[in-house]
Amino acid sequence: MKNVLVIGSTGQIGSELTMKLRREIPEGQIVAGYIPGAEPKGILLESGPSEIADVRDGKQLAAIVDRYQVDTIYNLAALLSAVAEKKPLLAWDIQMNGLLNILEVAREKEVAVFTPSSIGSFGPETPKIDTPQDTIQRPRSMYGVTKVATELLSDYYFHKFGVDTRSVRFPGLISNVTLPGGGTTDYAVDIFYSAVKGEEFVCPIAAGTFMDMMYMPDALKAAVELMQADPYRLVHRNSFNVASMSLDPETLAGKIRSRIPGFRMRYEVDPVREEIAQSWPDKMDDSCARAEWGWAPAYDLDLMTDDMIVSLRNKFGMQQGRFD
Ligand code: SER
Repeated sequence: MKNVLVIGSTGQIGSELTMKLRREIPEGQIVAGYIPGAEPKGILLESGPSEIADVRDGKQLAAIVDRYQVDTIYNLAALLSAVAEKKPLLAWDIQMNGLLNILEVAREKEVAVFTPSSIGSFGPETPKIDTPQDTIQRPRSMYGVTKVATELLSDYYFHKFGVDTRSVRFPGLISNVTLPGGGTTDYAVDIFYSAVKGEEFVCPIAAGTFMDMMYMPDALKAAVELMQADPYRLVHRNSFNVASMSLDPETLAGKIRSRIPGFRMRYEVDPVREEIAQSWPDKMDDSCARAEWGWAPAYDLDLMTDDMIVSLRNKFGMQQGRFD
């Protein structure tokens, strides 16, 4: 991996992944791909090249691959689960037709492709606890349907054409740089913003609804380490379960309250998000990722909670209080 195109570079994952790759591969060209209306700004714009990269335009993608001699594409273009329920046709167009364009460019130009899958690729019939790597995947959301299809199409291009496709099933991602947009797991980010600002948090997910979550530094580590893994060790490809913590709103609120004692939360459950959340695993088994490419997360719930609070206080220019 040397010259990389990050599609969706201004999104929740892309904004941090692009910067990590630029730091870790200084000899390479890390191209920040974006769509008009979501232009890179600040350090993301200034620290390397950027190009309009709309997944619905295969010719545009091919031209970028040629121009920068791209060897790896991170395909982070997607509508998250709650938005995809409102705009299912657009979600299909971006997630499926977009992926097909990318895979065709990859086949012609011998480029490796990472397209994240998700806990959303599972459904109500999937075992919820210790969800196995290979199990029932019958999601009911459009987001989930596109994620299962992404896994299948990516594996197809590997088996049929030898395209080096790899992927992980991300849990809900908790981060402090760029907000997620319209996912079921967004509450686990929003709760920290409210807590640090001293505001009451109105939680859209019910108490007792557990989902896998992960801190962004671990998610980025997974995305980079999998693409650098020895291909001969990979039994699976699309897509690996990766996990680090399983929590419900009460667990998270409790952790925050032990550091910010005045934190208040009340529930206004959103039926769309709650139904999706109930159909997703509580806790995935990630032993295949650990065995096949050495996956190991660095952050548990306590470390993540400490780091989120400190980082958001810095971001808002607030004083660092003591954790009581
Ligand atoms: N974070 C995503 C969502 O909630 C799941 O992968 O839609």
